Amino acid sequence: MQRRLNRILVTGGCGFIASNFILALLERRKDMLVVNLDKLTYAGNKMNLLALEQAQDSRYVFVHGDIADQELVPRLLAEHRIQAVLNFAAESHVDRSIHDSSPFITTNIQGTHNLLEASRKAGIELFLQVSTDEVYGTLGPKGLFTEDTPLAPNSPYSASKASADLLVRAYHETYGLPTVITRCSNNYGPFQFPEKLIPLMITLAWEDKPLPVYGDGANIRDWIHVLDHCRGVELAMDQGRSGAVYNFGGDAERTNIQVVTSILDLLGKPHSLIRYVQDRPGHDRRYAMDFSLPARELGFAPSVTFEQGLQETIQWYGDNREWLRRVQDGSYRDFMDAWYGERR
Ligand code: NAD
Ligand code: TYD
Repeated sequence: MQRRLNRILVTGGCGFIASNFILALLERRKDMLVVNLDKLTYAGNKMNLLALEQAQDSRYVFVHGDIADQELVPRLLAEHRIQAVLNFAAESHVDRSIHDSSPFITTNIQGTHNLLEASRKAGIELFLQVSTDEVYGTLGPKGLFTEDTPLAPNSPYSASKASADLLVRAYHETYGLPTVITRCSNNYGPFQFPEKLIPLMITLAWEDKPLPVYGDGANIRDWIHVLDHCRGVELAMDQGRSGAVYNFGGDAERTNIQVVTSILDLLGKPHSLIRYVQDRPGHDRRYAMDFSLPARELGFAPSVTFEQGLQETIQWYGDNREWLRRVQDGSYRDFMDAWYGERR
């Protein structure tokens, strides 16, 4: 199946993944209108899409608002004659969900429900939910998550994402809403908020501050460059089977300690900066993805190796210190002090 979409609503477009998605999509597709609905939480930054705003690109419309707004969302779908909704908006950080889960319930569950309800009533052609491998819970030393792995989330974040996925499924089964769910492993690359492992460790190492590694550092994540994930979402938008779930992965399993030592080595900093700290409660041991289904159906394949991507990412943060300075504001410091203060 090949959809011909050229008017889409992207939610959370000022966050890490969706800002990369919008920039890459508009670079390739001259006939695309993107309406970006973003609440501009601590994680959302209009600077990420400054280039589009400065160019006054008529293919891009920014709307400051909440996906849970029951009046705004239906109005946007009608006003812009939206054909597809791509829901990237979320509270996305596991540690914050442990600290305070309330916004995760409001945005990730109620917000998704509001988008689904408006999409159903507007008769849109596709609802694409951007989800995560974390909904499957944790793996032992062997095996991979497939699209049929039962959902077994362990953190308030992953439970809220799994809840949203189930609502998407139900809207497909009950109302026949055309839906696709994509589940991806850990992303890294430009514009990632510096609370997540890779940018946090880069920024701490620059300042010769201790690098907090949870537990024994042997937890494994599969890392994918954000642009490979974005390409997967675009393929799923264009060709994904209605009702399907697609797992995306980077084929790059690394222990956390491997990631942290690679960053230190690339920066020429000593391993003595590493501090093993109290583990994250409910910490999933291992994530790894079987992405043979999207490989077969969509032609998906990650293209950036972890070593190349990590080097480029370090370079990007070095070249964008003003961006960093601006996102590391008072609310960023308040959370970091509260969270890591308890863990020393
Ligand atoms: P992010 O935290 O960087 O950005 C989230 C964006 O959503 C921000 O711009 C924020 O302002 C916006 N937002 C939050 N609440 C909102 C609301 N109620 N209404 C409108 N906008 C709101 O997140 P990210 O890392 O870019 O993740 C994007 C999506 O991808 C999320 O759904 C996440 O679950 C999923 N995902 C992320 C990863 C990863 O490694 N980061 C991996 C797999 C899946
Ligand atoms: P994170 O970037 O928060 O992503 P997720 O929890 O969604 O996988 O964390 C990636 C891994 O790094 C995870 O196993 C937790 C670990 N971690 C640390 O060891 N120290 C830290 O300070 C952070 C933020 C994460």
